[in-house]
Amino acid sequence: MAAGIDDIAIYIPRLFVDSTDFATARGVDPVKLKQGLGISRMAIVDSNQDPACLAANACLKIMQRNKIAPSDIGRLYVATESSLDESKALNSYVIGMLEQVYGDDSFEHCGGIECKFACVSGSYALYDNANWIRAGEAEGKHAIVVVSDIAKYDMGSSGEYTQGAGAIAMLLNDNPRLLQFDSKVTSTSIKNEYDFYRPFGKETPIVHGQYSNLLYLIQVKKAFEAYKKKALETGIVKMKEGETILDHIDYLCMHLPYSNMGKKALSYLLRREWRSLPRWKRIVEQTGMEEPVPKDPRGTIESILADEEYMGNDHQFNKLFTKTKEYQAFYEDKLASSLIASSMIGNLYTASLYLGFRSCLEFEFQKGVELEGKRFGFGSYGSGSSAMVFSGVVQPSYKEIVTNMNLEAEIGERVKLSLKDYEEIHENKRTPTESMLNGKNEFVLVSVEKAPESRGERKYAFCQ
Ligand code: CAA
Repeated sequence: MAAGIDDIAIYIPRLFVDSTDFATARGVDPVKLKQGLGISRMAIVDSNQDPACLAANACLKIMQRNKIAPSDIGRLYVATESSLDESKALNSYVIGMLEQVYGDDSFEHCGGIECKFACVSGSYALYDNANWIRAGEAEGKHAIVVVSDIAKYDMGSSGEYTQGAGAIAMLLNDNPRLLQFDSKVTSTSIKNEYDFYRPFGKETPIVHGQYSNLLYLIQVKKAFEAYKKKALETGIVKMKEGETILDHIDYLCMHLPYSNMGKKALSYLLRREWRSLPRWKRIVEQTGMEEPVPKDPRGTIESILADEEYMGNDHQFNKLFTKTKEYQAFYEDKLASSLIASSMIGNLYTASLYLGFRSCLEFEFQKGVELEGKRFGFGSYGSGSSAMVFSGVVQPSYKEIVTNMNLEAEIGERVKLSLKDYEEIHENKRTPTESMLNGKNEFVLVSVEKAPESRGERKYAFCQ
């Protein structure tokens, strides 16, 4: 049985910080953020928003747009790394909010859990729900997978440039209008790591930035190797002499903690795929230098990062490589459109990959590209760490969904924060009743109980 994404809805908070204002305030060159990392704006949650209401707002949008009643939904999964409770799942808050609109107990038949594995958990949630559908367990019902996060780092840290917030709801069924997943090719890698993690009770993560960048690339490459093997074995891709499997994937969507991480991932994969192909000689000639090799090619991530001579030369080679016409053509055709939304919104952790997918659909469609039958490859990464690589094919009825995509209209009128207001929100100095904006047709957080017997209980309201 087929399974895939029928529709996709986004909810992005309307407050944002402009990257130039932010860089100036932190004494960083604004060009580093704009060009070096690809960040122009970061969405920021108001003091009356939390990951549960972001998720509920995305969910409500997808249900209303498709005129879906709670009785049409068999599973509602929420994937997040911004969990609110050590025990109570984020789904339960979301269902509580949705029942304010659809009526008490309207979701009681529905199953679902909160999923956690940093930014990759949404992909595991999609895979598990796709398999629920493939197994014939859905009995004609849909599954909804919501990915919702607030990417928040310590003030003054280098991670602070890579913040953002938002939720994406994906409607899954056995006759998807948008994208049908390729079966029996999904591949994973996993390893115990401390590149980025958030101990219990800590609001912001502990991050080893450069280590996390390289680990992401290595883990995605490992999952990609396993994907390649399966894609050839199942026959979804037939490769000729001198080709790479990437020649047969029309679009690539990568996890985007910041927009330019997509470019880093593409060049990392392409260099390793093209090295053994006849085209590599021609490409290296264009760079005008030899591809550098680390002193200890089998070394650890730490030893590679500590090999300053190699890191410097590799950085230089990579810059030249990304200027070659072969890389440029690949980048423009297969990746560029997926990076646009990330640059406008920032990091959404679990939702970043799917914001990239949404971005690619909208901006390729606007270019007039016919998308039916195109294969999307997805590179998902979660710190800690695990990667998942999978793919899917755009379905004939995709235009019903993609024609109406308009990122700016869907976000609504955005409000630029002063650095003072941003810092007040960041340091939790405002209560839910002191929010910057009033909610409109959306759920907002009203209060969080502090008394010992009810500590942590959250109340939400739907604002007309
Ligand atoms: N003008 C133009 N470009 C400049 C510049 C300037 N003045 N100064 C620096 N740059 C460029 C650099 O050359 C670099 O680009 P390249 O990598 O292409 O060379 C880019 O700007 C960034 O510079 P640095 O690497 O020096 O930046 P940094 O060390 O200050 O911080 C970061 C970057 C490590 C990503 C940091 O923001 C961070 O720790 N972020 C959080 C962790 C993270 O996002 N990790 C990603 C992988 S882990 C993951 O994906 C899970 C997740 O969601 C968190």
